[in-house]
Amino acid sequence: MPTTHPTSTDAPAPGLTVVLGGSGGLGAALVVRLRGQGVEVLDIGRRTRPALDYLDAGSIEACAQQVADRLAQNGQPLARLIVATGFLHGDTGSGQRTEPERSWQHLNADALAHSFAVNAIGPALVMKHFLPLLPRQGRCVAAFLSARVGSIGDNALGGWYAYRASKAALNQLVHTAAIELARRNREALCVALHPGTVDTALSRPFAKTGLQVRPPEVAARELLAVLDGLDPAASGGFFDHLGQPVPW
Ligand SMILES: NC(=O)c1ccc[n+]([C@@H]2O[C@H](COP(=O)([O-])OP(=O)(O)OC[C@H]3O[C@@H](n4cnc5c(N)ncnc54)[C@H](OP(=O)(O)O)[C@@H]3O)[C@@H](O)[C@H]2O)c1
Repeated sequence: MPTTHPTSTDAPAPGLTVVLGGSGGLGAALVVRLRGQGVEVLDIGRRTRPALDYLDAGSIEACAQQVADRLAQNGQPLARLIVATGFLHGDTGSGQRTEPERSWQHLNADALAHSFAVNAIGPALVMKHFLPLLPRQGRCVAAFLSARVGSIGDNALGGWYAYRASKAALNQLVHTAAIELARRNREALCVALHPGTVDTALSRPFAKTGLQVRPPEVAARELLAVLDGLDPAASGGFFDHLGQPVPW
């Protein structure tokens, strides 16, 4: 009688993909695309069980523990970790709403703190708790959605202080974590990705005519193709949705 018990065959159990922020425009499209490819995906966000909220550091550790338990139970490796969370505008968690700053006059401590909490500090704690779950051998990927506007070298327009600075911080965290990750597993990748301008709640109020705004499904397909094609030597890098390096 056929069985699907993981110990009934010598073949390794297929890896699990974890998407953090699967409720977002890009995160949801990534989850759908991966599941359509037959990949086993665990989608974790503020409304899932377990719930992950970057404003509650304990929730990050608790989610990682649940993932660790599941991997151990199923004898599975963590093949991919995709962090699709992010914040540009809206509720800062303290009842205030914020928009990207057009001038230094608009800088606001609450908005800066929230941008750093969601775009940099939360992902940093994700690194702390989830990167140790990646296997010590074999190809595996941790991808953090960043943004080209976090690039200092590419910044010709100014503005958007909190978003730019918090994504620049994320990029440095990704690069630093990639160095440590390589000491554990030379085939592991840790990268920052720029998805291009994508039609989601995050970008919609700011998508100017003339910009190439793509549907999330297209961006998801492109980003996954980039991840599949990256060589371990690319770890620590910052790439756009076409696989081109983005300046720091
Ligand atoms: N869309 C674009 O054009 C574009 C361009 C460049 C870069 N990006 C980057 O791509 C990523 C995904 O963006 P998107 O366009 O898909 O945005 P989105 O639709 O607004 O999704 C944002 C995601 O972040 C989650 N999130 C927000 N605050 C959180 C918190 N405190 N704790 C945990 N999760 C939180 C949201 O959860 P809830 O659903 O619970 O709110 C949602 O899952 C972001 O990093 C963004 O900066 C997007």
